[in-house]
Amino acid sequence: MEEKTKPSSRGGFGSKIGFVLAAAGSAVGLGNIWRFPYLAAKYGGGIFLLIYLIFAITFGFALMLTEIAIGRRTQKSVIGAYKEVDKRFSLLGVLAAVIPALILPYYCVIGGWVLKYMTIFAKGDGEAVSVAEYAINDSDETLTFFEHFIGLLKQPSVFFIIFVLLTSVVVFFGVEKGIEKVSKFLMPVLLVLIIGIAVYTLTLKGAGDGLKYYLLPNFKGFTFSKLLQTIAAACGQLFYSMSIAMGIMITYGSYMRKEDSLESSVRQIEVFDTLVAFLAGMIIVPAVFVFSGGDETALNKGPGLMFITLPKVFAAMPAGQILGTAFFILVTLAALTSSISLMETVVAVVMEKFKLSRTISCFIVILVTLCIGMLSVLGYSSWSDFSIFGMQILDLFDFTTNNIMMPILALLTCILIGYTVKTKYIEEEVMYGEKQFRSKLLYSVMIKFICPICMVMILITPFVTEI
Ligand code: PHE
Repeated sequence: MEEKTKPSSRGGFGSKIGFVLAAAGSAVGLGNIWRFPYLAAKYGGGIFLLIYLIFAITFGFALMLTEIAIGRRTQKSVIGAYKEVDKRFSLLGVLAAVIPALILPYYCVIGGWVLKYMTIFAKGDGEAVSVAEYAINDSDETLTFFEHFIGLLKQPSVFFIIFVLLTSVVVFFGVEKGIEKVSKFLMPVLLVLIIGIAVYTLTLKGAGDGLKYYLLPNFKGFTFSKLLQTIAAACGQLFYSMSIAMGIMITYGSYMRKEDSLESSVRQIEVFDTLVAFLAGMIIVPAVFVFSGGDETALNKGPGLMFITLPKVFAAMPAGQILGTAFFILVTLAALTSSISLMETVVAVVMEKFKLSRTISCFIVILVTLCIGMLSVLGYSSWSDFSIFGMQILDLFDFTTNNIMMPILALLTCILIGYTVKTKYIEEEVMYGEKQFRSKLLYSVMIKFICPICMVMILITPFVTEI
């Protein structure tokens, strides 16, 4: 009789804290640092915070628990895992492998931009860069440094390649010696950095008004339709922030020790993720407020906030060079631990599917990532005239994965667990070695009813708002 593969034979986390910090490392990323603060500012401050929190402890909890439990129960990478849960749902495993493989390249391109900004501030050039203007041929308009930089070919490529290599070094060393070790060191550093920067920002003159704007519910103009939009935004943000539907939590779950409590681990990961997002808001909203004299539009969405507005804010602050450097180190660490989790998910699939060693699998994944990522780099430079549905290549990858593939995967996973194999499948794994599953009722209501509704909402919102 074939013996069941023990977790140790494919490597695994050596401790509960190692697992929690690695999963939190995946969850804490660019989404926490620039997207969350911007959304909170846009959707009524305290109202958004409250809705997000409620979602985190209900809907986010259920989805994350599901993925980690699937991983730990099957002890397989995503393709094998879905196949083992139910053969008819095997295709979901393929989807769960394709999603991180498509996100990893462009995520590393953005990681490269962050790395570039870190070096700029570390060299003391932050101020010059924040005010620099670049002329465009035959036009009166000018470009900011950021727009100029991403339009180049060589520099963004070099920083992208460095970021991919940094990520792969960690993955190359495996789960315990690579991912766990690095997470146990980097995540506490990240926490100290973000607390330090937040405390400093709050001492600035005028920061109090920004803080109020961030924390207090703002009901002005808050109509029913805005409430629905806020719910959809909070839902989407949570989903992305917790690294759900990217195959990551299944992969990390498959390396988790059987003796550790699933329920409390998920709670701890959530607390870490939400705390960092909350603290990032305490930095960004007041800082931008002080700088812009209370102008909310300065909190605009997208890369502009992080790469154009914030550097200006730092440049105008006392000790801004140091603060800017600390901030971009923080963002680099956050992005790095996320890209590590993406790469590990893909490497685990290649190892298992093609029965290759970790080293060879890493090389294959690096190569493919570099090729696909270059498309995103080129999309902003030599191929900048090229666009599909009005989106540049990087945005296109981002949109298809986040707005289409991920909600579909999560929706079908809810159907698989809620109605096909039934929630018992997850409950048994949660109960392994435990006395009770405290959120059992909440869990099953979420997976069967609430999560599917949220997923459909995320799926249709962009199309409805488009109309
Ligand atoms: N959870 C990450 C964040 O909040 C996003 C992410 C993680 C994206 C891992 C891809 C891979 O930014």
